[in-house]
This record gives sequence, C-alpha cells and structure tokens, in this order.
Amino acid sequence: MRPIRVNGTTVEVLDQRLLPVREKWVRIGSSDDAYYAIKNMVVRGAPLIGVVAAFGLALTGPSKNLGEAARRLKSARPTAVNLAWAVDRVQKAAEGAGSSEAAFNEALRIFNEELESARKIGENGEKLFSDNDTVLTHCNAGALATVDYGTALAPVRVAREMGKNLKLYATETRPVMQGARLTSYELLKDGFDVTLIADTAVGYTMRCGRIDKVIVGADRVLRDGTTMNKIGTFQVATMAKRFSIPFYVALPSSTLDLKSGLDDVKIEERDPSELTQIRGRRTAPKGVKVFNPAFDITPPDLISAIITEKGVYYPPFDFAKVGP
Ligand code: MRU
Repeated sequence: MRPIRVNGTTVEVLDQRLLPVREKWVRIGSSDDAYYAIKNMVVRGAPLIGVVAAFGLALTGPSKNLGEAARRLKSARPTAVNLAWAVDRVQKAAEGAGSSEAAFNEALRIFNEELESARKIGENGEKLFSDNDTVLTHCNAGALATVDYGTALAPVRVAREMGKNLKLYATETRPVMQGARLTSYELLKDGFDVTLIADTAVGYTMRCGRIDKVIVGADRVLRDGTTMNKIGTFQVATMAKRFSIPFYVALPSSTLDLKSGLDDVKIEERDPSELTQIRGRRTAPKGVKVFNPAFDITPPDLISAIITEKGVYYPPFDFAKVGP
C-alpha cells in the first residue's frame, strides 16, 4: 500500500491521522501544504516526510521565496534527517537549473530512490529472518512511513515473498499510537499474522519467549550507529539485550547523518495534549507538568545489525567508511 500518489504534477497523500477508521486523500500543491501535513502528522515517518517536503517545495510558485520556504519546511520536524536532506536536494536543483520543472524532477527522483531503497532493504534484510520467526516492531516503519514496503517492514515482506512464515508483534506506540493505528492496519491489510501489545508489555512478552527478533526503523543514524527513533525504542532495545534477542535497525542511506554528533541532534518535543488527552477527552489533571519527547536515542552497543539498501552492517559500525 502506498501513502502517496503522484499523477503528473498532482501529488496526494493519505491522511494518516484518520487511519485506521477512514482513508482520505489530501492534495499537496505547495510548500505550505507540505509544511502543514508534516507538522500536523497528516504524513509521518522519516522517508515519507522527506518525499512530501520535496514535492511541496518543488510545487512552490515563483512568487514565493524558495530559501524561506525551505527553511520553514525543515523546521516542521527537526529529528528526521531525511527532511533536510530532501529539501536541500530540491532547493539545489531549483536554484541550479532555475526552473520549477527541474525541481519537480528532483522530487520525483527522490520518490523513486526511496522506493528502490525500500525494496533493497527488504532483499538485504530478509536473510536475517528464519521461517517461523516471530518479530516485534515498534512504531510504524512500514509502507505508511515510506513510499512503499517500509524500512523495518520491508525485510518482513520480502521474507514472506521468499516463502518464510513470519508472525509479527506490534507495540501500540503511545502517545500517537502509530503501532496500533498504522502498523497493525497495514500488516492486517496485507494478510500478516499480527498481535498488538501495550508498550509496557514488551519485557513480559519477551520473557514469555514470544519474540525471536526485533526490527525497527530510524529517523537519524549517526556514523557510529547511534540511532534516533520513536520514543520507546531505547527501552525495547534494552529489553531485547536483556533477553538476548537480536535487535535490528533498517533505514535508507537518506537517514544516515555522517556530519552530526549527538549534541547537534534536536529531539522533537510535541504538544502536552498528546499525553493529557485521548481524542479530545482529558485523561490527566489540568496543571500537570508534561515532558513529551517524540524520539529517543539507542546506543550502538544495543544494536545487533543495521540494514540499508547497500547491505547489512554489524558492530562496530563506522558509516564514515561506508559513505552515505
Ligand atoms: O513520529 P513519527 O510517526 O514520524 O515517527 C516515525 C518513526 O519513528 C519511524 O520509526 C521512523 O521514522 C522510521 S520510518 C521508516
């Protein structure tokens, strides 16, 4: 399933805020549309927000200041490095050729590259899974977070195409519920055997011997393998280590950040209402203080392997040597 469709210069995205209840497509016709969609999580997932920002910027009319539009888009969500990477590429193409056609073609190239990367991540990663494995994933790093296939879910999909029978566990992923709303939705739609658990059930589920492997996506991976991903990933990885369960991270090269150190990375903090309300109904007392980071940091010593479209890498990771 694809969360984005491109027909000529018409770009539409699936409104993920409404899933799994309703499938509604929304037009992205400008950088303002893209900014709104990314900021408000109409679309989410590192590769997809990069692609949507790329099309939004490419469709920005000549009356708009391109540099200003690019800066605003990049600020929409600060942790996933794909966003800035895609915006920079389109801005460079537009300024280099001086035409909106060149910018749109660059956005299309990014779209196609992400699609191809996802497929290759699947082919590279499927070898890590055996027939009858049960695999836990956190958040949504599936088709809905990319152009198609997914990153974490791509190896699972290719493994099935190769005849392996995999079962999945999805964490619900509080507070935005990407696991409950999106991962279980797309996996069920594709006919997978998927079981939903509360985030707080990860340790017990592993202790019960129900999980053979874990695979997650990433919003940014530093050159030594340090991984920024959805809040809760660090806890899942720590638990996996505790129970000697392999913990894999899958990402396209557009998620690698070879320049930054830990101190350069901004971890997005989201609105307190995500924690004090559920669907508009208050669940915490007025006046309570809230800390709501959207991502966390998993150190490389908890990661068994990192999968990209170029191959599978084992510790110690050094992506400066491999290149982006
Ligand atoms: O806040 P979100 O839903 O954009 O967070 C998404 C994740 O953390 C994903 O795991 C990550 O972007 C990888 S998506 C292929």
